[in-house]
Order: sequence, then structure tokens, then C-alpha cells
Amino acid sequence: MIIVSGSHGDHLGDLIAKRLGIKNYNLFLNKFPDDEIYLRFECNLKNKVVVLLQSFYKNISDCIIEVIFAAKTAHELGAKKVILVAPYFPYLRQDKRFHKGEAVSQNIITDLIDRYFDGAYLIDPHLHRKKNLQQMFKIKAKNLTTINLIADYIKKNIPEPIIIGPDEESYKWARKVAHIINADSYILNKQRYDSYHVKVRMSRTNKNIGFRNKNIVIVDDIVSTGHTILETAKMLKKFRVKKVYCICVHGIFAGSALNKLKKAGVAIISTNTVPNKKAKIDVSKVIYDGLV
Ligand code: R5P
Repeated sequence: MIIVSGSHGDHLGDLIAKRLGIKNYNLFLNKFPDDEIYLRFECNLKNKVVVLLQSFYKNISDCIIEVIFAAKTAHELGAKKVILVAPYFPYLRQDKRFHKGEAVSQNIITDLIDRYFDGAYLIDPHLHRKKNLQQMFKIKAKNLTTINLIADYIKKNIPEPIIIGPDEESYKWARKVAHIINADSYILNKQRYDSYHVKVRMSRTNKNIGFRNKNIVIVDDIVSTGHTILETAKMLKKFRVKKVYCICVHGIFAGSALNKLKKAGVAIISTNTVPNKKAKIDVSKVIYDGLV
């Protein structure tokens, strides 16, 4: 096996390679004057299982082109298999045509990966209407999860937490984490109007729960604009909670999300699937365990 990190994978490449006792190679990347991508492998791929590591954030379109070019090239250069490891995999939230004429991006991106890769490992992919990765990919795809790492972090750092999932989809993370640490959990109702406008509501039955003076931990897979968490925190504060934490898997923090969360007094922690200054939970072991 050989690990090759793309432009958005090298923050994890060395950590994973070290665990495997092998070397991490970086793809050699450059841009032509017109912005086209130039890419070159600087290692021998002949008869090797090539693990291509790429997280898809910021320049997502470039990240996609990079892995497609790299996978095709790796096969041409004699790789036995080419496996994509995507700590954060994009476009999964657009899993249906919400409005007339829209692209169903999830299908298109998974089709592309199917065409060029022999396998894919994704960390906590955003699964909503599809139950598992087998419903999305034709190639062998594995869902790696950070749930145990998140549970561990809470156990070590946050006394007597109550776990909150801000919307129905988040139950997959919130409920499981709560179960592992034996904490109470509640799932809220979210209505999304557009990228920046959401409304979060507590169900009638949950309103009688004793949230007062409690440490609340909102657990979600993705924080992008931060508005889901901001609305949830705003609502929870009405219950005079002690402190609001948010732990997410993928800390995308688009635009000024981190500032807004800081101003709202939310203590935020993420894993390092996407590198950022709140990334306190290292996922390299989860990837290592998946690969061996
Ligand atoms: C959506 O269902 C996800 O689980 C997240 O709740 C969502 O992507 C967060 O987005 P934002 O931070 O922009 O509200």
C-alpha cells in the first residue's frame, strides 16, 4: 500500500502514514498560467494499492479535478487498485431535486468516483435520504465514523452533558454519542429556508426537560455557515443553560461562521477532517483502522 496525499489531504497524510509505518507521498501539483491543474506522481505506483487522500473543502472543484486526474493517471502507471480516502466528501446534501431544474449533485459526484476509483472510504458522510454508501456508490465504499472519538472527547472534557441534535438528520451522531457516554439526548426540529436562514424548534415534550444550569453539547456532522448551531444555541439559552458546546465532525466554517459562533458564546470543537483552528479531535486512527 502507498499513501499519496492530494492538496487537501496532506494535513492527515503524515499522521496516517506514520501509523502504518510507511511514507506519505504528496502529489506534485502546480497551476498553468490559465489556472489549469498540472499534476505528477513522484513515486512508483506499479502493482501498488494506491490510497489517495483528499478532503474536499474550500477549492472543492479543484479538489475533484485533482483526484480524477490522479486516479486515472495512477491506473495508467500500473497501480493495482486506487482507493479514495475522503475525510470530508462534498455534495452529499444535494441528494434530490429540491427545485425544478436543479442538478442532483450527489449522484453526479458519486458516479464520477465510481468511474475512476476501485474503492472509497468516507468519514461520517452526510447520509439522509440514502441509508448507506452502497445506495450511492457501485464501487466498494466504506463509512468510517468518528462517533467514538467524539464520545471520548466529551467524556474527558465536559462534565454532565446533555446531548442535543439540532435536526432530524443529526440523530445518527447525537443519539449514538449520547448512548456511548450514557447521557440524555434530545433531537430538535429544524426548518431550512435558505443557506443562511434556519429555524430550530424544541418539541412540546422536550420543553419540560430540566436544561437549566446544564452543560449542553450540540452534536452535528457539518458546521458550514454556523446558522444551524447559532439558532440552536439561541433557543437553548432561553432555558438558562450553563454552557453551550458544539462538537461537529466536519468544521467547514464558511465565511465568518467561527466569529459568529464565538460572539454567540458557543464553545466549538471539531475533528480534523477539515483542518481548522478548532480541530481538536484527530481522525487519523479511524482512517488507519479502516485501512488495515
Ligand atoms: C444538515 O443537515 C447538516 O447536518 C448540518 O446541520 C448543516 O449542513 C449545517 O449547515 P449550516 O452550518 O450552514 O447551518
